[in-house]
Amino acid sequence: MPIRSILSGAGGYLPERLVSNDELAAQIDTSDTWIRERTGIRQRYLAAPHETACFMGTRAAREALANAGAGPDDVDAIIVGTSTPDQAFPATAVRIQAELGVTRGFGFDLSAACSGFIYGLSVADSMIRTGNAHGVLVIGSEVYSRILDWKDRATCVLFGDGAGAVFLQAGEGYGSADRGVLSTHLHAQGTLGDILYVNGSVGRRDLPGTLVMNGKEVFRHAVIRLAGAVEEALSANGLTTADIDWLVPHQANLRIIEAMGRRLGLPAERVVITVDRHANTSAASVPLALAEALADGRIKSGDLVLMEALGGGLTWGSALVRI
Ligand code: UT7
Repeated sequence: MPIRSILSGAGGYLPERLVSNDELAAQIDTSDTWIRERTGIRQRYLAAPHETACFMGTRAAREALANAGAGPDDVDAIIVGTSTPDQAFPATAVRIQAELGVTRGFGFDLSAACSGFIYGLSVADSMIRTGNAHGVLVIGSEVYSRILDWKDRATCVLFGDGAGAVFLQAGEGYGSADRGVLSTHLHAQGTLGDILYVNGSVGRRDLPGTLVMNGKEVFRHAVIRLAGAVEEALSANGLTTADIDWLVPHQANLRIIEAMGRRLGLPAERVVITVDRHANTSAASVPLALAEALADGRIKSGDLVLMEALGGGLTWGSALVRI
């Protein structure tokens, strides 16, 4: 019987400070109407100084473990998708390992921008299937507020901070054959690196870096690439759109999400949407949305969930999971 990666719990964390569109409009040349009409965003949560990628990721991970009925002893690997780690090293994953009281295994950060969680899920699934890990925390944790140019109205209104996590566990035997991660598909196209990037890093003393985006180009690629990713996931599994119970998309723009929902023929109530309240939390957006829909009972055991994301790189991908 093949080993499957069972998604046994999910969790999330949002910073305490809620910032409305009107609050931003009091500081920069924008308006609640523009932000809502172009993106669907009504508000976002922004981190206080102590709410770092490690702090938020630890809280999301604790909730995921609690919801899985698991503890630190069940974890043997931690993967964190983040573009905003607290430190160049140690990795956020290793800091979180210590915070959680996990004393074995390994952990590392993964840099794939907004696709970081989908990439992490794919790596974790491969490790579990090959028997190299049995309990893997996959976390997306981001504090984009610290890499935004707060004078650039075209980008600073779009993002929020937060963390989401899932716990994947090896499952074998009766009941696990049809559950868990059914497939993941990853893509990158480095030639498109200059349409969404951070113009510096810790490796540049002269330039810590802020986010730069050609929104129109990213939008155009997002619609095309994500549609392709969805079709790829369905055809790899011999499924049709009618088989999908829930779409949990990357939360960048409501217009992109609605276009994906229409393409799949999924009614709006089968698409999980958090962008209105969370804005774009990059690698945290998919696990945060998943955790919310699991916690409020919308997504139930046995449901087939399709997740997708696209971000700087460009990177993009999908994951199909039976809960
Ligand atoms: O997570 C990674 C993936 N990211 C994405 O998927 C983001 C993809 N892109 C988008 O979501 C959209 O392109 C945006 C929301 C970023 C922008 O929407 P748009 O409909 O493409 O607007 P635009 O950039 O073409 O700007 C239209 C107008 C411009 O004014 P003019 O030149 O027409 O006079 C902008 O200067 O809106 C102006 N504008 C704003 N006005 C008020 C841009 N930002 C703002 C703002 N408030 N915050």
